[in-house]
Amino acid sequence: MEGRLINRSGSLPDAKTTPVADSSVLQIWGGHRLQGHVKISGAKNSALVIMAGALLCSGNCRIRNVPSLADVERMGEVLSALGVHVQRNGEILDIDASEITSSKAPYELVTQLRASFFAIGSMVARLGVAQMPLPGGCAIGARPVDLHVRGLQAMGAEVQIEHGICNAHVPGENRRLHGAKIYLDIPSVGATETLMMAATLAEGETLIENAAREPEVVDLANFCIAMGAKIQGAGTSTITIVGVPQLHSVDYTIIPDRIEAGTFLLAGAITRSEITLSPVVPEHLAPVIAKLEEIGVSVIEEAPDCLRILPAKALKAIDIDTLPHPGFPTDMQAPFMALLTVAQGDSVINESVFENRLRHASELNRLGADIRVKGNTAFVRGVPMLSGAPVQGTDLRAAAALVVAALAAEGLTTIQGLHYLDRGYERLDLKLQQLGAKVKRVSIGNTE
Ligand code: EPZ
Repeated sequence: MEGRLINRSGSLPDAKTTPVADSSVLQIWGGHRLQGHVKISGAKNSALVIMAGALLCSGNCRIRNVPSLADVERMGEVLSALGVHVQRNGEILDIDASEITSSKAPYELVTQLRASFFAIGSMVARLGVAQMPLPGGCAIGARPVDLHVRGLQAMGAEVQIEHGICNAHVPGENRRLHGAKIYLDIPSVGATETLMMAATLAEGETLIENAAREPEVVDLANFCIAMGAKIQGAGTSTITIVGVPQLHSVDYTIIPDRIEAGTFLLAGAITRSEITLSPVVPEHLAPVIAKLEEIGVSVIEEAPDCLRILPAKALKAIDIDTLPHPGFPTDMQAPFMALLTVAQGDSVINESVFENRLRHASELNRLGADIRVKGNTAFVRGVPMLSGAPVQGTDLRAAAALVVAALAAEGLTTIQGLHYLDRGYERLDLKLQQLGAKVKRVSIGNTE
């Protein structure tokens, strides 16, 4: 890695002897049992889209249980660039969108945070106009936005894409979208959220069919309903929205992060530990818990918002197909693959949601796993033990998979690519340390 003094044996220079760091790595010494309780933060994928939804409100929105993540900071910067006031106070975010002074989202921010594109729905609904850069692809896929665009056009927006900018505007003097019947080719989370937000202020009724059913879609709907929106059917494949003239201030608490919770369940499973997690919404984790039970791990509802995982005697190989909710979540595929690398037998993982989301397999193989990838399918042959090595995260959940694997690998694992991890996990290293894991975040500097 250019400019970093990490030799491939994984030993790092003493952080004290290197200049002030411009980056950091995680050092994990595997093989230690975890114990105790971990607090789950607010859901990243709720926070991001609800921040975009705050643009619909011509007053103040107070959003609680907001995780402190790089992506949340970035979304705050996008809103500020539109002239919206964003005030953070711990887990509370105060957003005042009574004055939106610009309809032009900054290119350099949108390309770094795909979720900011979803704000096009609330901007066109509120302002009748939006200049939103196309988010472009990322490590896991091309990430097109055709369903978002087609839905807005069905609702009366005229959309031209030129020079990488999606220019949307609503013709006519009242510049108000109208309701429409929309069928999504794919139950896209983002498209469902963009169009649901747009429909809250449109004239008349909008029907979104083949809608995404993820808990974060329901969270956004509940946030909009709390502002006075008329939405029915969120969480099912058919959502009906009747537009209203405007939405009022709200004080709203977002749901816990089911993907962070699932990641900690896997950390417990792979280290044969007994830990508890809260707050959680157990039903949001139903597909993950079902797969853990199939492997041989017991997960108990300690309380309505608390789960306890018990150590398994043996981990059995299983097959996984990622699907839209309530199927097995694609965001849990990489961390789950880490667990299956040490299960007994052969597992088959099929990634059907994104076209390039198996890149973590090669990094897991550097830790001694036995994984073969053919197209969108990974064939995982369980091995008795992983062994520590320097590895590199290639996207947010791939980095999480390497952390899970490192907790069970013999010796030292050094993980680069923490900027990915910081996008979606709030102080993962500290939370793991509090559970007894031997984890250290080490700053390393540039070397001449
Ligand atoms: C959301 O992304 C999440 N991000 C992703 O989480 C998550 O993996 C994904 O939903 C699936 O659950 C946020 O909520 C911020 P999609 P999104 O539209 O909305 C195709 C994480 O790790 N598609 O449901 O972008 C698309 O290419 C992130 O936290 C179109 O073809 O996902 C993909 O193959 C990663 N045209 C499939 O649909 C479109 O217009 C599902 O994508 C839109 C999507």
